[in-house]
Amino acid sequence: MSLPARSARVAVRAASRSAATKNIVKARAFSVLTRSPAAAKRQPVHILSRGIKTLDFAGTKEVVYERADWPLPKLQEYFKNDTLALIGYGSQGHGQGLNARDNGLNVIVGVRKDGESWKQAIEDGWVPGETLFPIEEAINKGTIIMNLLSDAAQSQTWPELAPLITKGKTLYFSHGFSVVYKDLTHVVPPADVDVILVAPKGSGRTVRTLFKEGRGINSSIAVFQDVTGKAKEKAIALGIAVGSGYLYETTFEKEVYSDLYGERGVLMGGIQGMFLAQYKVLRENGHSPSEAFNETVEEATQSLFPLIGEKGMDYMYNACSTTARRGALDWAPIFEAANRPVFEKLYESVKNGTETKKSLEFNGRKTYRQDLAKELKEIDDQEIWRAGKTVRSLRPDAK
Ligand SMILES: NC(=O)c1ccc[n+]([C@@H]2O[C@H](COP(=O)([O-])OP(=O)(O)OC[C@H]3O[C@@H](n4cnc5c(N)ncnc54)[C@H](OP(=O)(O)O)[C@@H]3O)[C@@H](O)[C@H]2O)c1
Repeated sequence: MSLPARSARVAVRAASRSAATKNIVKARAFSVLTRSPAAAKRQPVHILSRGIKTLDFAGTKEVVYERADWPLPKLQEYFKNDTLALIGYGSQGHGQGLNARDNGLNVIVGVRKDGESWKQAIEDGWVPGETLFPIEEAINKGTIIMNLLSDAAQSQTWPELAPLITKGKTLYFSHGFSVVYKDLTHVVPPADVDVILVAPKGSGRTVRTLFKEGRGINSSIAVFQDVTGKAKEKAIALGIAVGSGYLYETTFEKEVYSDLYGERGVLMGGIQGMFLAQYKVLRENGHSPSEAFNETVEEATQSLFPLIGEKGMDYMYNACSTTARRGALDWAPIFEAANRPVFEKLYESVKNGTETKKSLEFNGRKTYRQDLAKELKEIDDQEIWRAGKTVRSLRPDAK
């Protein structure tokens, strides 16, 4: 790497470290306010204003919105006349709903009466008839309708829900899926409401745990339809309300393409495929299950991947032996070339709706929970993951 490039990168890291430190300090103060919703509601209105940030991401300038721009009193003032109606209470409903409630906002939940989510919501302190309602009733009471049903359920329930989303309400999603693939989902929002998106980049459980730690998850925001002229501002404010720390602007289309692509690729499908291929070749060459697992999964997840997460790929390379570095440098381009056509095929399959069609078909089945459990059991039964159980049992923290 050239020296100017290296020093530019060091400067960006220093800037982002200082921004992160600043944010942690602010976030702590913020999270103290969130501990008691009642106390949070009593905060005087004291509006701090700061500029939004334009950051340089490897040479491309992008605007990032941050929680520091929305102190709790400002957030509460902004939503003082709103009722956030969370429709669906899966992992996102749980995380986003509890965070918005802890932020002192007026939140209600709408789910199928006596379904799994209804029980879960009661356990989390939502009260039937006060803050927990059947779906239709919650939509009628809400001003901001947060559609957090499963993507397949969003499509299945749309004919009943659409007429309830009347002028003056705002329609909110956490995925571009339903709206972008409207030819398959038949979800076409009414023309007279704002339609916005806040998509946390992680599980709803992480949305909740990061918030409770006084931090915040990264989320994407987007506007599909701006009737009031306030749609973007509302998306930003809601992003903060549900527990985001930083918000990155995108479009519904880009959000859904990148999301479906990423989870099928490196995040989930790709990683399982790579692990399995490497493990099987080791086994075919006479290596024991423990050796094959340690050299494929354990070292990756316990030692090397956290280093990439902490300080980047070059940092991880530098932390390894010169022998390892030389080989990795030589083989990385070979893997890139071999994988690139697969990624191109995957992106096309996302873009042309093939992936959506499959997902709607599978997740729309009555038996989708059992069918999924069966396939996941097959993975759990693979030798690699059975070997992994024993390796994990030997970790110091497992004893
Ligand atoms: N999970 C993530 O990591 C993640 C991350 C970012 C964005 N998102 C997006 O956030 C949204 C919600 O995802 P999620 O993972 O939180 O939810 P989910 O687990 O996929 O869906 C759960 C909710 O859908 C309801 N539901 C399912 N079928 C239904 C039907 N036929 N009629 C009525 N309700 C039905 C369930 O209620 P019952 O209990 O009554 O069945 C439950 O409340 C999706 O758009 C998703 O793409 C998810």
